[in-house]
Amino acid sequence: MRRHSGVGKTVLALTMAAALAAVSACSKDANTSSGTGSPTSVEVMSWWVGPGEADGLAAMIALFKQQNPGVEFVNATVAGGAGTNAKAQLATRLAANNPPDSYQRHAGKELAADIKAGDVEDLTYLYDQNGWKNLFPPGLIQAITDNGKIYSVPVNIHRSNLLWYLPKTLSDNGIAAPPQSWDEFLTQAAAIQAKGKTAISIGPAWTQKHLLENVLLGELGVDKYNGLWNGSTDWTSAEVVAALNKYIKILSYSDIKSAGADWQPALDRVIEGSAVYNVMGDWANAYLAGDKKLAFKDGYNVVASPGTAGVYNFLSDSFTLPVGAPHKATAEKWLALCGSKEGQDAFNPLKGSIPARKDADTSKYKDYLATALADWTNPSTKVVGSLAHGVVASDAWNSEIDTALGLFTASGDAAAFAAAVKQSYEKNK
Ligand code: GAL
Repeated sequence: MRRHSGVGKTVLALTMAAALAAVSACSKDANTSSGTGSPTSVEVMSWWVGPGEADGLAAMIALFKQQNPGVEFVNATVAGGAGTNAKAQLATRLAANNPPDSYQRHAGKELAADIKAGDVEDLTYLYDQNGWKNLFPPGLIQAITDNGKIYSVPVNIHRSNLLWYLPKTLSDNGIAAPPQSWDEFLTQAAAIQAKGKTAISIGPAWTQKHLLENVLLGELGVDKYNGLWNGSTDWTSAEVVAALNKYIKILSYSDIKSAGADWQPALDRVIEGSAVYNVMGDWANAYLAGDKKLAFKDGYNVVASPGTAGVYNFLSDSFTLPVGAPHKATAEKWLALCGSKEGQDAFNPLKGSIPARKDADTSKYKDYLATALADWTNPSTKVVGSLAHGVVASDAWNSEIDTALGLFTASGDAAAFAAAVKQSYEKNK
């Protein structure tokens, strides 16, 4: 069995401990009995619809139907990258006590809020029944655990800190290699702009936050980046404000004034060659290799985003059992599939992610995905958590960061943004 030596490390454990530190006991009564509800259907809510998102889910749905003939699978997807729209719709349904049978939630602080609100069931019994406790990396289990109880089933590991490009565009523009620091990027960007091209494409607000987290990581390094989420790095310090000013400089070389409608249209500009780079998570691999049929390395390529070589900025999609799920028995079957080796090996090669389980069939992960697995399992890789995808900040803090970021990208006032984020941290911690 392949060892996940890179992920049992203290760094991930510490990140996760911080991520869940604020979680307290449930406020609703959890229904702990198993197997209630009609066995004839299951409604699963996610945001995996459209190119680069849907194929992995479709493969898991096909397996589910094969394993559960006669059970109708209600695919309640809500379009919109990073779940911006899905999360809003889910919040309405949860508030109305009308949950789906299972919904997608990122491991970390995003799930912690649901645990605190009593919205999700304790799934420890599924881990016991399926022998899962030792099959997932301990740091990941910690990110979905509160008070010794485990609350979701992780299906994958995604990486956030990636810079995508086409080798042909680089050579067409006389660029020898992608930048290894944001300063190097800015030098390249000035030359790219002089040629009338966009140095970095961008999409809607969440993609701007995705870029921001990786600029902060690249500029501040792992320890200070981690400190941003636990109060030990002062947002208003000169170093953080300098990184924020650099972010604004980077954005000035982007197409933010005509930003893509979502992450795929932003990548389309890279594919067409009108933009040179895009920072995006590795769901981009599913789009470039799967939907656009580009060849890894020759057609498209990817490196760690500037300043983050050797760092894995991770996030994990997981599925829950909401309290009051109408079809609990079939939801348990869905969750069993999500946690299974077969399910993860069907889903991840098409999703652009690597399995959350430690024992997956490595032969199924080729090209970019083979490099992702190698990096994730490399003991010297440093693991940190994503802001835009729920690991390091609660939804409450994240949404205040969103508001402040909207103002910041318009005004360019780094000090005001830093002060607002710091204040919001103090309020939400
Ligand atoms: C992330 C999610 C990924 C992918 C991406 C783009 O939040 O974890 O699986 O779907 O959004 O929508």
